[in-house]
Amino acid sequence: MRIVSLVTQKGGTGKSSLAVSLAVAAAESGLKAVVLDIDPQGTAEEWYKRRTAEAPAVHSISWANLSSRLYRVSQQGYDLAIIDTPGADGHAASEAMKEAHFCLLPVRPSFADIEASKVTVRYLSDQAKPFAFLLNQCPTGGRTSRTSNARMALQLLGRLCGSTLAHRSDHVDALASGLGVTEFNPHGKAADEVRAVLQWLTARLRKLDAIETADDEAETIPLRAVV
Ligand SMILES: Nc1ncnc2c1ncn2[C@@H]1O[C@H](COP(=O)(O)OP(=O)(O)O)[C@@H](O)[C@H]1O
Ligand SMILES: [Mg+2]
Repeated sequence: MRIVSLVTQKGGTGKSSLAVSLAVAAAESGLKAVVLDIDPQGTAEEWYKRRTAEAPAVHSISWANLSSRLYRVSQQGYDLAIIDTPGADGHAASEAMKEAHFCLLPVRPSFADIEASKVTVRYLSDQAKPFAFLLNQCPTGGRTSRTSNARMALQLLGRLCGSTLAHRSDHVDALASGLGVTEFNPHGKAADEVRAVLQWLTARLRKLDAIETADDEAETIPLRAVV
């Protein structure tokens, strides 16, 4: 099982929306996915209550139980666990980063968002934890210079998800309907973008797996499906 944490100190950057939409897209691609919601705000948990479909499962838990719950879900045959965290520095975010194989940092293309991620980036770098920024809520309709500037800055750091997400109402409406964007509007642009992010993420996880395997000088054990 691979573990991905969505972390940023700022609220409203899209951690919860992406956690559930990526989990839905992962399930649609054949992966057994689970969301562990360690944010007391419970956005992912509330989303799950509005849902009729059972998969992907969402468990709302305390950060203190994260490690033991991850062990349990790994024993239940899950391929991918996505951890949704509170928008603040603290035990919950640190625990999520510690447990993750990979961290995604959703940021809007704004100086304030990128600046606010300094503490998170320092922590991840100290822990030698693989991570990438994910540009989210990028303006559409020609107003793209802010996105290009942010993309350039993050590319210089070598830490940018290869796909970005535009500001699209499907994200807001899907969250309100208990659906992932790929379910809410399967042929929409938001759905395509979420699938592209998932594809990038799973490719990255595969690459990390190959590196780990090489480090261990062990035989390659292919992870099930894409992870
Ligand atoms: N790409 C996007 N386009 C439009 N709205 C978005 C997008 N991503 C997230 N949102 C919306 O922004 C709000 C905050 O997102 P949320 O996922 O709750 O952020 P966080 O969990 O980081 O606090 C929600 O209403 C969500 O639907
Ligand atoms: Mg949230």
